[in-house]
Amino acid sequence: MTRDGAAPSRYAVIGNPVEHSLSPRIHAAFARATGEALQHGTIAAPEDGFAAAAERFFADGGAGLNVTLPFKLDAWRWVDSHDDAAGEAEAVNTIVPQPERPSRGGRPLMHGCNTDGVGLVRDLETNLGWRLAGARTLVLGAGGAVQGVLGPLKRAGVAELTIANRTRAKAERLAQRFGVAACGLTAVGGGWDVVVNGTSAGVGASAGAALAALIPSEAIAGSRCYDMVYALDGATPFCRWAAEQGAAETSDGLGMLVEQGAEAFFLWRGKRPDTAAVLAELGRS
Ligand code: ATR
Repeated sequence: MTRDGAAPSRYAVIGNPVEHSLSPRIHAAFARATGEALQHGTIAAPEDGFAAAAERFFADGGAGLNVTLPFKLDAWRWVDSHDDAAGEAEAVNTIVPQPERPSRGGRPLMHGCNTDGVGLVRDLETNLGWRLAGARTLVLGAGGAVQGVLGPLKRAGVAELTIANRTRAKAERLAQRFGVAACGLTAVGGGWDVVVNGTSAGVGASAGAALAALIPSEAIAGSRCYDMVYALDGATPFCRWAAEQGAAETSDGLGMLVEQGAEAFFLWRGKRPDTAAVLAELGRS
């Protein structure tokens, strides 16, 4: 109960798998720091069960959802309206109920947002100090994760943006949509200022090897390399491999996770939490 006797607002991250998500811990830290009364937990939904789980959560009075893999596309299809970032990404990672809007089937209409791109750009520029304006930037992968960050990277003023993907046709389709360049993984060349890994190859144990077989090390040597996934027990396979190829700096995506969460918290609560303290608490200085 809060001091005035009201139950704290309930939030959650929905995904599959989701039990190891850091989002509840991150939002609890944001809540403490901003003095907001809220709870944040996890919802593990079956692969085909996003809509039913989301309906149930909001029918029970849930105040907002973070959406993680594999449901960002389901969430995009499920919401009643969306912001520009979600429209551009065709994916939703944050759901904000609209109590002031007429209800549908007993619950408020749902607004879908996407804070992933903003989170990435804030981590790169503000936390890591990697200048994007004028940077030759290479993005690896052409899946959902990449689709959400191309617009924000472009607007950050990168000098050149190239998408490289194992399946080149997919990179080309995305590149055409966003007005950027595309190539296959083996043809990326060198001289990149910033390389962002958005392939899901970063998730498996043999990821470094899988990517290493395709990407020439000249693409990595001397570049600042960022992995959109994170590991709490040391470097991610991509970061480890990039360091071995002579990357100027490497970072995993923990900061992106915290920053996209901070933006979601702002959308829900109207308060912008200090992310530096939370990143330090999670072991990133
Ligand atoms: P997400 O939503 O996480 O981006 P996705 O849409 O399935 O997931 O996209 C996965 C991305 O990782 C794709 O760009 C995929 O390349 P393909 O389009 O060629 O499939 C890339 N990927 C996955 N495994 C890979 C591997 N072993 N080597 C290189 N790229 C890989």
